[in-house]
Amino acid sequence: MKKIGIIGAMALEIRGIKEYLVIAGTDNYAGFTFITGSLNGKLVVLTVSGIGKVNAAICAQLMIDHYNVDCIINTGIASSLDPELRMCDVVISDDVTYHDVNPDQMISCFPNKERFYADRRLIDYAIHACDLTRTENWDYKVGRIVSGEQFVADDRKKKQIVKQYDALCVEMEGAAVGHVAYCNRVPFIVIRCISDSADRNAYLEYGTFEKISANISSTLVIQLIRLMNEY
Ligand code: ADE
Repeated sequence: MKKIGIIGAMALEIRGIKEYLVIAGTDNYAGFTFITGSLNGKLVVLTVSGIGKVNAAICAQLMIDHYNVDCIINTGIASSLDPELRMCDVVISDDVTYHDVNPDQMISCFPNKERFYADRRLIDYAIHACDLTRTENWDYKVGRIVSGEQFVADDRKKKQIVKQYDALCVEMEGAAVGHVAYCNRVPFIVIRCISDSADRNAYLEYGTFEKISANISSTLVIQLIRLMNEY
């Protein structure tokens, strides 16, 4: 049976999934706890990576090395960069990249990629999951997600990222997961639910929406796994 790796940066971003998981055991590698179990008949490895690209990259590589996962899903919350995306709307990654690494450097240095593309089948499952789960309170889009070592809560910084990257949302881990997945030829997807708008109101909005948005993203992942029959 195939194995699905799931990474959330914070405990609240995987709590909803953990509740559904029939837990088989836990392991510890490099200080990270990996929970194994089954969810809707699929084998799952679940972990909280902590915040930031390096933590996410370590977890993605450990999942591949120790569990031989067949795909990786990064779930959680993000900040909107698109005027059409409101709180609790969902972004499904088409591609991911870093907003704090020079694009020239990404091309000139290994693995010589300016961005990392999510798996087409996983995108289709995620779209289907959104169509089945959606309420009148939220909508979804498929597009670029950018990651960087910064909680963006500044109008000027937001404008600069929007101008340079044409992305739908910003967070702090997804591109690192995509980077590691690409190097290992493992399919991946990032699913994020909007918790704030990356501007001066970001901290306030974040406090209001982090839990509800994290739960929406978790619910979608559960639904996506239900749909993954051929994995
Ligand atoms: N994740 C959720 N909100 C964020 C923000 N404003 N900046 C970076 N990552 C986030």
